[in-house]
Amino acid sequence: MKKFGVGIIGCGAIFGVHAYPLHTIENVEVKAVCDIKQPARDAAARLFGCDAYEDYRAMLMRDDINVIHVLTPHYLHAQMVIAAANAGKHVLCEKPMSINLEDAKAEIEAGRRNHVTIGVISQNRYNSASVAIKTAIDSGSLGKVVGQRILLAWFKPDDYYKNSDWHGTWDKEGGSLIIDQSIHVLDLARWLVNDEIVSVQASIDNRNHPAIETEDTAEGLIKYRGGVQSVFYATNNYTYNSPVMVETHCEKGMALMEFDRAQITYRDGRELNVINNPNDTLDEASYQAFFNQSSAQSAMQTLSQWGVFGSPITIPITWKTPRPYWGITHIKQIKNYYESLAAGVQPDITAAEAFKTQEMICAIYQSGKTRQMVQLNQAKE
Ligand SMILES: NC(=O)c1ccc[n+]([C@@H]2O[C@H](COP(=O)([O-])OP(=O)(O)OC[C@H]3O[C@@H](n4cnc5c(N)ncnc54)[C@H](O)[C@@H]3O)[C@@H](O)[C@H]2O)c1
Repeated sequence: MKKFGVGIIGCGAIFGVHAYPLHTIENVEVKAVCDIKQPARDAAARLFGCDAYEDYRAMLMRDDINVIHVLTPHYLHAQMVIAAANAGKHVLCEKPMSINLEDAKAEIEAGRRNHVTIGVISQNRYNSASVAIKTAIDSGSLGKVVGQRILLAWFKPDDYYKNSDWHGTWDKEGGSLIIDQSIHVLDLARWLVNDEIVSVQASIDNRNHPAIETEDTAEGLIKYRGGVQSVFYATNNYTYNSPVMVETHCEKGMALMEFDRAQITYRDGRELNVINNPNDTLDEASYQAFFNQSSAQSAMQTLSQWGVFGSPITIPITWKTPRPYWGITHIKQIKNYYESLAAGVQPDITAAEAFKTQEMICAIYQSGKTRQMVQLNQAKE
């Protein structure tokens, strides 16, 4: 079986959600980790018994590493993805692929030029509820998609921004609500419609986070070539992270995704209900065992000395734990990425595929800032 040596850049909140799948995939070995913060990289290196780097460029020089995971603040994604590709490494990058379209195009070009595979995380496409709806729509059983409504009402307290050196900034995060939180649900919605976006008209606003310069509220209308109209509303000003919702209105029925459930209703009275099975995505006991190793315990101690506390669920580690609400399917996308590399085929979510969502995100910002409709000319899959 083809073996992959892996390097991880960025050992912050999302690190654990990549570390655990990498630990479970047989033909993968994490050779090195990198973070500019010493406690973070040391803790991560202890977890894998691997080397730690402060400078990612030094890590990219290793011949025994052929895949790089990029888990850093948004503004660093493009430069790291491109440097890794130029070093001949395949790359799996966290969302978003970049904070502007020029960088996103440069990433795709670097992948082509160096004959490496660049994947971008959008794990919620792998939720059972998402897969059920996608299958129902693609089968044609629901008829043509005609419209969509998308709702995200989450809670981001001021402390979320105060405790970060990059969230809530245009130059480092590239926006906030749209590029960081809503990107998941907007990507999912676009994937379900599976058509070219022709125009975006949106508004963005900051209504309740005076300490940050970026948006906490947005709404808009996205039009597709085939006539589908998607409307969305998103805010980080609600009082808790309420269930996200995507309702896809089709000629012969309705597909509703809410939180971790899908409800597909046909005009003829048939109804299908699907709920995500957590055991399908994560074996929590082995996840806990991995992070409960003594190395992780000492990592935890170091990190808790920083005053960072773990999630309310039981895993005693500050790295991001599976969330009780939405989006723990990283493991499926990461497996698809490595299986595809081993088979010499493209993974489900390539940089070219992620680019279409990036274009939509950038158009929302452009429209919101200029108060003009933005026309797009997306290439069809
Ligand atoms: N898919 C999801 O559900 C999901 C959830 C959370 C975060 N994310 C994404 O993951 C990425 C990281 O987010 P996070 O929440 O882990 O952020 P974070 O701030 O917790 O961690 C980022 C880490 O990168 C390190 N870093 C910064 N500059 C670096 C450099 N030059 N070289 C090496 N390391 C550097 C920081 O020291 C920090 O440890 C973002 O793209 C974010 O959008 C995705």
